[in-house]
Amino acid sequence: MTIRFLLDDAVVEVADAEPTATLLDHLRYRLRRTGTKEGCAEGDCGACTVLVGEPDGEGMAWRAVNACILFLPMIDGKAVLTVESLSRGETLTPLQSCMARNGSSQCGFCTPGFVMSLYGRAVGAAGHALPVADVIAGNLCRCTGYGPILAAAEDAPRIDRDDARLAATLRDLRTAPEPTEANWFAPRSADELAALLLDHPDARLIAGATDVGLWVTKGLRDIDTPVFIGDVPELRTIMEGAAGVTLGAAVRYAEAHDALGRLHPDLGELVRRIGGLQVRNAGTIGGNIANGSPIGDGPPALIALGASLTLRRGDRRRTLALEDYFLGYGRQDRAPGEFIERIHIPRPAPDAIIHIAKLSRRFDSDISAVCGAFALTLRDGVIAEARVAFGGMAATPRRAPACEAALTGASFSQATIARAVAALREDFAPLTDVRGSAAYRHEAAGNLLWRLWHREQGEPVSVRETV
Ligand SMILES: Cc1cc2nc3c(=O)[nH]c(=O)nc-3n(C[C@H](O)[C@H](O)[C@H](O)COP(=O)(O)OP(=O)(O)OC[C@H]3O[C@@H](n4cnc5c(N)ncnc54)[C@H](O)[C@@H]3O)c2cc1C
Ligand code: FES
Ligand code: FES
Repeated sequence: MTIRFLLDDAVVEVADAEPTATLLDHLRYRLRRTGTKEGCAEGDCGACTVLVGEPDGEGMAWRAVNACILFLPMIDGKAVLTVESLSRGETLTPLQSCMARNGSSQCGFCTPGFVMSLYGRAVGAAGHALPVADVIAGNLCRCTGYGPILAAAEDAPRIDRDDARLAATLRDLRTAPEPTEANWFAPRSADELAALLLDHPDARLIAGATDVGLWVTKGLRDIDTPVFIGDVPELRTIMEGAAGVTLGAAVRYAEAHDALGRLHPDLGELVRRIGGLQVRNAGTIGGNIANGSPIGDGPPALIALGASLTLRRGDRRRTLALEDYFLGYGRQDRAPGEFIERIHIPRPAPDAIIHIAKLSRRFDSDISAVCGAFALTLRDGVIAEARVAFGGMAATPRRAPACEAALTGASFSQATIARAVAALREDFAPLTDVRGSAAYRHEAAGNLLWRLWHREQGEPVSVRETV
C-alpha cells in the first residue's frame, strides 16, 4: 500500500506501508528522526509525542498525539511535525530557549515529548487552551522534575505559524489516487464504510487506535482487514441542540469535550480526565463504547444520562439504549458487518441532580478503579426517577437496579441515601485486581453516592481538583 504525508514541508511517500507499522517506528527506523523516543509503546508516557495536522481554512489544525500507537496509514494525507522540525540548524526556537533558561531540559528521553506538547500549546493546537498542567499530563517525567517545565511553559511565547502553503500542498496530496491494495481500508463516506463492511463483516474497525494500537505493540496481535474510520466525515460530526448532543462515532474526546461539558460540567470533567491530551486527541467516544471495557469511563456516565446508539448495517439502522449494548464480558450487541454510527445523549432537565465521579489511583491520565454516575429527577422532594450506573464494579458497565429501586419514590433524604448505598451490595460483586480490592470498590461506590448527597447540601465537594 502506498501512502503519502508531509513531514515538515516535504512529501514523504511510503510505497510499502505495513498496515500496523507505527508512525514512531517509521520516524525512527526509516526516516532517522530519532528525536522522537519510545518510552512505553502504549500511549502512557508521551516520549513519542508528535503533532499531526490537517488543513483547516487557510491554515492547519494541529493535534499532539502519541506516535507509538498510531498506525502509519492513519496519517495518509496529513502532515507531521517532530521535535526536529522545530530547530533546523544551531539556533534554538524561543520555546527551546525558554526550556534551557528554566533548566527544564532534564533528560533526553522525556524532553522531546515535553517540547512537542508545549509546542502544540504555543501554536494553538487542539487542547491548547487547557491549563499547562493538563497539556503535559500525558508526558511523564520519571525524575519528577515538573516544576521547571511548568515554569518554561508559562514563559513560552505564542508561535504564529504561517501554514497556508502547507495546507495547500496537503489539499493536493489528499486528492491523489487512493491506495488500491486491500490490506488497509480508509473509506471516505459512511455509505462506503457500510458497503465495505457488508463485504468484510469481520473487518476490524480502527478509530483512534488508542485501544487497538496496544493490541499490536503490547499484545503482538495481527489485525485482519483493518478499516480506518477516522476519515469518514459523517462519523466526525457533532450536533448540539435542545434535545441533547449527537456525536458521530469517530468524534475524538478532545473534540467532544466542550459540547459534553455544556450538557453537564461533570461530563466535561470526566472527559478531561481520560488519558492525557495525546490520548484524547486520538481516542473516540465510539471506540470507548465499542471496546466494551468494564472500566471504560464513558459508558457509566452516558448510561446514567440515558444515551442511545445508532447502529448501522448496510442501509439498515437500529437504535439501542446504551445499557443494552453490553451483553457480558467482551460481548456486545453488534452483528457482523454492523458499526456504531452515532451516539445520542439527551440533555438533562435543568433541575436534574447529576453527579459523575471517577476514582483512579493517579488523578491524571489513569483509568478508573470505580466510576459512578447518578441522574436523579425530583418532584416535590420525592425522587421520581433514578438512573445509577457504575464502571469497575462488574463485568460490564451497568446500572444498579437495587440502588435505583431504593431511591425511586423515596424522599430525597439522608435515610434514603443510606438505604440506597446499602442496596449497592445487592447490585454488585466486584473483583479484586491491581486497581482496587472488592472491599475498596464497594466502599468507594457507596461513598460516591454520599458525595452526591453532600454536594446537594451545598458542602464543598469537589470532583475538579487540579494539580
Ligand atoms: C494511555 C492511555 C490512557 C487511557 N486512559 C483511558 C481513560 O482514562 N479512560 C478510558 O475510558 N479509557 C482510556 N483509555 C482507553 C482508550 O483511550 C479508549 O477506550 C478510547 O476511547 C478508544 O477509542 P479509539 O478511537 O482509540 O478506539 P480504537 O482503539 O480505534 O478501537 C477500539 C475498539 O472499538 C472498535 N470500534 C471503534 N469504532 C467503532 C465503531 N464506530 N463501531 C464499532 N466498533 C468500533 C474497534 O474495532 C476496537 O474493537 C486509555 C488508553 C491509553 C492508551
Ligand atoms: S512511547 Fe510512551 S507514549 Fe509513546
Ligand atoms: S525529564 Fe526525563 S526523567 Fe525527568
